[in-house]
Amino acid sequence: MQGLTAEQKARVEKILSQMTLEEKIGQMNQVSPSIVGGFDVPFEELIEMMTDGRISKEEFGRIMSTATQDFHEEEIRRGEVGSLMVQDPVKVNELQKIAVEESRLGIPLIFGLDVIHGFRSVYPIAIAEAGSFDTELMEKTAAMAAKESRASGVAWHFAPMVDVARDARWGRVSEGPGEDPYLGSRFAEAKIRGLQDDHSTTENYVAACLKHYAAYGACESGRDYNTVGMAMNVFYNNYLKTFEAGVKAGAQTVMAAFNDLNGVPCTVNKFLLRDILKDSLGFPGFVVSDANAIRECVVHGIAEDDKDAGVKAAIAGMDMDMGTGIYHDHLVEAVKSGKVSLEVIDEAARRILSVKMWLGLFDHPYVSEEAMKRYEVLPEEHTSLAQEAAEKSIVLLKNEDNVLPLSKDAKISLVGSLADSREEIIGAWAMSWQEKDCVSIREGMEAEFKNVRYFACGGPEGDLNMNEIIAAGDYADVIVAVCGETVAMSGEASSRASITLPGRQKELLEMLMQTGKPVVLVLMNGRPLALEWENSYVPTIVEAWHLGIRMGNAVARVLSGEVNPEGRLSSSFPAVTGQCPVYYNHPNTGRPGSKSKFTSRYLDAPLDSLYPFGYGLSYTHYSYDNLQVKEAAGALEISVDVKNDGEAAGRETVQLYMQDVAASLVRPVKELKGFEKVALNPGEKKTVHFTLAKQDMGFYDNDRNYLLEDGLFRIYAGGNSREVLMQEVQVSFA
Ligand code: NOJ
Repeated sequence: MQGLTAEQKARVEKILSQMTLEEKIGQMNQVSPSIVGGFDVPFEELIEMMTDGRISKEEFGRIMSTATQDFHEEEIRRGEVGSLMVQDPVKVNELQKIAVEESRLGIPLIFGLDVIHGFRSVYPIAIAEAGSFDTELMEKTAAMAAKESRASGVAWHFAPMVDVARDARWGRVSEGPGEDPYLGSRFAEAKIRGLQDDHSTTENYVAACLKHYAAYGACESGRDYNTVGMAMNVFYNNYLKTFEAGVKAGAQTVMAAFNDLNGVPCTVNKFLLRDILKDSLGFPGFVVSDANAIRECVVHGIAEDDKDAGVKAAIAGMDMDMGTGIYHDHLVEAVKSGKVSLEVIDEAARRILSVKMWLGLFDHPYVSEEAMKRYEVLPEEHTSLAQEAAEKSIVLLKNEDNVLPLSKDAKISLVGSLADSREEIIGAWAMSWQEKDCVSIREGMEAEFKNVRYFACGGPEGDLNMNEIIAAGDYADVIVAVCGETVAMSGEASSRASITLPGRQKELLEMLMQTGKPVVLVLMNGRPLALEWENSYVPTIVEAWHLGIRMGNAVARVLSGEVNPEGRLSSSFPAVTGQCPVYYNHPNTGRPGSKSKFTSRYLDAPLDSLYPFGYGLSYTHYSYDNLQVKEAAGALEISVDVKNDGEAAGRETVQLYMQDVAASLVRPVKELKGFEKVALNPGEKKTVHFTLAKQDMGFYDNDRNYLLEDGLFRIYAGGNSREVLMQEVQVSFA
């Protein structure tokens, strides 16, 4: 096990040698508190119902306060539970005490939870934070989440979600780092470092969980849980990449995906779990199923019944069962009848015990009284980090007449119900935040500007209020319209077939524009939206995603110019939904789309995305020049000059792309190979250097052979994936 001392390994082996078969299988069983007495819903599903909007937070609170919960104390006492999903530290200690003091071997429980983009201090959703292109920031926010959750006894995050995702209809694009495997891999590494690497005390780190393994982000038509079929070279060169990077960075656990890949559900996919993950990549930790996924293999039609599904999952290398109890109910018999070997069980139990040992749970199983109180009031350094992350994730999409930045004296009509909400800034998958820590856009704007009046007018749901629209126009020097999606419109089980602004928001914008006042559209959303109309008619557009607890301050400071926007798109935005999936690093066809008829295009949609990957404006302008490519030993040395031509200081994200012009398999028209953020004062010019290792210029074929093929390459550098300088170079790998 990676990261264990010889002594710790010996301790694991000793415990293992003392365990009964039932106790080993107990370690492989993860349960959630079940709600009994009137509610036949497992706790975990109830949480999902709240996070995906089927019930409100208030309803959830009401159910929980009156419900009788079964925390499985008896099973814990008997050594039949290895893990639980609980976040209340008092409960954590209570259950841990049963495991440690009352079960035969005293093996501690591991408490896990969906801490996707922050625990108490919620920071931007991943698709937004990835667009900061700031790996130091990504690491810091993860470290903050680790500390906060560990102080509640949650030592295991079901994060980072590193699914490469290219179809914006899929609601879960919000949870991951976007469409690009290179950016996604850097995101994965940074998150693993932040979550896992600070061992100065056991209270500073948690076990990460790379999910969802694998190719969940390619679910057909962007419909959640849907089937995935893809050529293996596409899988190896794109969808596997982020997991490979995360495993190399030391991720302690992996969660299998719900979907099938080329016909075999990932839950029972021996090729994925054993051959690739454990054997080839050498992943030393344990694999957990997704919620109820073992049982769902019966519905998939790959197992006859629960027992069959459990046997298949265990043999395939699934170490822990999330939520079905199938391992608990059937594996003892399956081992006794010879269907599952004892080695399979030993291996799973060893992996799970090793992660618990690595976490220090055997020596520090409890949450201290002091830790429980530590974050009652959030420390300033946490809220300011959440704000910094929010500011760096905002993307300026359009600023036609330089309406932005706004004067602090301007009379601003702030419009849209989303602007006045502390809940809607949080984004999908966040459970431990508190309203008192949040700053809505309205609150942020009122603090930043002298003359702000709020008019609800309308939102993603419900009707428009004409009187308010007229009043907003009458008051304003400028209208700031906050439109977009509610939290419940992205995340799990929240795919949309049409990804334009929902409800009557387009009409709202039309009416606001008719007032004759300049309109600044601030978008709050969990996915790329199809903004063809908005881009044509609204002069100023700011993509602000769901940015977490300090969203209000971040948006206000960008609008006032206190902060020069520097975020970039981690996913291409389509012009219209029908273009999905649209992504910059697609393979070429023999007939790339053009004006002529017999080319790869739609009759009724633009050829390309509306805003490409890597795109984002600022309050200054950067120009590129002098792209140089030199061959050196084992690498290409590349340099490019970038200059700040405007009047504001800013940070530019310099991006390096490559194209393998002719290869034995069709390669993407461009692939990101590096990026660097550079701070530039007005008039300042810097030369940015990249070293592109030749080893990184290859690709996998369908049998996972890594090929480095001599020939012509194009090297591109620029401020987004579309507007680039280019140099050609012949490369030999001999
Ligand atoms: C289902 C989701 O797919 C997964 O991401 C999450 O970690 C589990 N439920 C547990 O809540």
